[in-house]
Amino acid sequence: MKLSENIPISNLTTMRIGGNARYVVEVHNLPELKEAYDFAKNKSLPTWMMGDGANTIGRDEGFPGLVIINCFKGIEILSQTADEVVIRAMGGENWDDFVAFATERGYSGIETLSSIPGTVGAAPVQNIGAYGQDISHVIESVSAYDTQTDELVVIGKEDMNMSYRSTIFNTGKDAGRYFITAVTFVLENESSLQPPFYNSLQKYLDEHNITDYSPASIRTAVMAIRAEKLPDPAVIPSAGSFFKNIYLSYEDAEKAEEKGIKIHTKSDGQKMISAGYLLEQAGLKGQIFHGFRISEKAALILINESGKSYADLAKARTEITDIVYEKFGYKLEQEPVELIAK
Ligand code: EPU
Repeated sequence: MKLSENIPISNLTTMRIGGNARYVVEVHNLPELKEAYDFAKNKSLPTWMMGDGANTIGRDEGFPGLVIINCFKGIEILSQTADEVVIRAMGGENWDDFVAFATERGYSGIETLSSIPGTVGAAPVQNIGAYGQDISHVIESVSAYDTQTDELVVIGKEDMNMSYRSTIFNTGKDAGRYFITAVTFVLENESSLQPPFYNSLQKYLDEHNITDYSPASIRTAVMAIRAEKLPDPAVIPSAGSFFKNIYLSYEDAEKAEEKGIKIHTKSDGQKMISAGYLLEQAGLKGQIFHGFRISEKAALILINESGKSYADLAKARTEITDIVYEKFGYKLEQEPVELIAK
């Protein structure tokens, strides 16, 4: 086990803020993972699981424990029928490499989830979603190391409690308990996606006269849309969407609509207010708060232009959420997680 000591969390995360992690280790297999948790247990250190750090915010005080970076690699086709394919991807694989693997072979179910930063192991944690698909529809199970019992477990989708950006892995009493070593997906051999697609995707397809809805074609379109609107976190620091969209009951959606607020109805009937819309309507697009800029192109993205610290980010967040609250009466919630000792 190769431990690194006193590593800036700003170097491990795409938002690029945060003090030092006391220890950091990369784990590639189960023995290394076990060794890492044993080390932390012996020293009574808190632990933190990390993929690419694309949805994690560091705090200025750093982290007094062990950050365990998931470097489990490999993608394997487990079985195939005329309709479906079952694929297992290891937790440390890059998410978009996995989407490329699937779409190149014509498998459908995750093509609109192209170009999402991060790892396969992190994808189920917040139930990643974009352009009408989320992984709750294609995930079968995860293999994970249970840090409470030190045993390997398999957790089926039915036990993950998946909803918008929320699962047992990030919400409730078991949040942070499972280190996801591998994820098993069931994809379709042929795409069943048909128009109309998610608004911005449909618009792109129409504008470019694209009528090929194959996984590879949809992937190319989504990559182009994202490249135009969303900053590449490897180049421009951000943690993707910084706020969550707001899901409402039918009753609250009606009240909001009466106040003139635009309501989206999702394909499953759920009512939603786009947080990006609220930020835009509040005149915040392009504005900079303590070194953090609300993206001109997609208001949900908070770009770290010159923010130096978590303290700067916290000030920016308070000011932004206060402005939206005063104008619309909705309290925006942060989407990325914060690296803290539990
Ligand atoms: N909108 C605006 N102004 C903006 C941004 C959005 O008015 O600046 C409104 C528009 O009405 C638009 C609607 O919001 O029609 C939806 O916008 P968009 O398609 O850009 O998506 P989003 O709601 O801003 C969510 C995800 C993204 C994902 C996109 C595409 C969350 C927190 N974010 O953003 O995920 O890529 O949908 O499906 O749900 C991420 O989580 O990091 C992320 C980038």
